[in-house]
Amino acid sequence: MRDLRWTDLPELSLLEADLFPDDAWAQETWWAELAARPRRSYVVEEQDGRVAGYAGVDLGGDVADVMTMAVAPAAQGRGLGRRLLDELVARAAADHAAYLMLEVREDNGPARRLYETRGFELLTVRRRYYQPGDVDAHVMRLDLTGGTA
Ligand SMILES: CC(C)(COP(=O)(O)OP(=O)(O)OC[C@H]1O[C@@H](n2cnc3c(N)ncnc32)[C@H](O)[C@@H]1OP(=O)(O)O)[C@@H](O)C(=O)NCCC(=O)NCCS
Repeated sequence: MRDLRWTDLPELSLLEADLFPDDAWAQETWWAELAARPRRSYVVEEQDGRVAGYAGVDLGGDVADVMTMAVAPAAQGRGLGRRLLDELVARAAADHAAYLMLEVREDNGPARRLYETRGFELLTVRRRYYQPGDVDAHVMRLDLTGGTA
């Protein structure tokens, strides 16, 4: 696993179009995310010279936020999503965040299951947050304080 590089962006665009057909990030968004480092912190898993997965977190406060997380279809189901999430949790903890938050589509069973098994708890539901499609957002939170906050 390594930090995201600008040379990854063309490959990320292809993966985004495949994995997030309704809300793929534009190239401009990725450039803005890179420009916002180190507050925005992105990790890439490279396998055989290709991007197999990537994830990012917004740091800098008491509450860190998962920005995105994705595993290439051919690499899914082999524990990479969990390792990427663990890396984001580690980066948030190293930045002394008390909580790590995220939003996930209500209809995204695999992702919700991943977050639940990692200890994230449902905080609130934002009705019809994702458009088009009227899909609810589940706002989830992981306590990084060990119950001392
Ligand atoms: C969600 C995603 C990142 C999971 O990555 P992955 O590498 O396939 O996941 P892992 O192999 O690490 O699995 C970790 C856990 O996720 C859950 N999970 C993963 N795939 C699942 C599936 N098809 N059905 C149900 N649960 C699943 C399970 O809890 C799994 O743990 P287990 O294997 O012990 O049961 C991946 O499916 C993906 O990129 N999806 C498309 C993009 C996306 O939805 N991103 C998240 C946006 S919030």
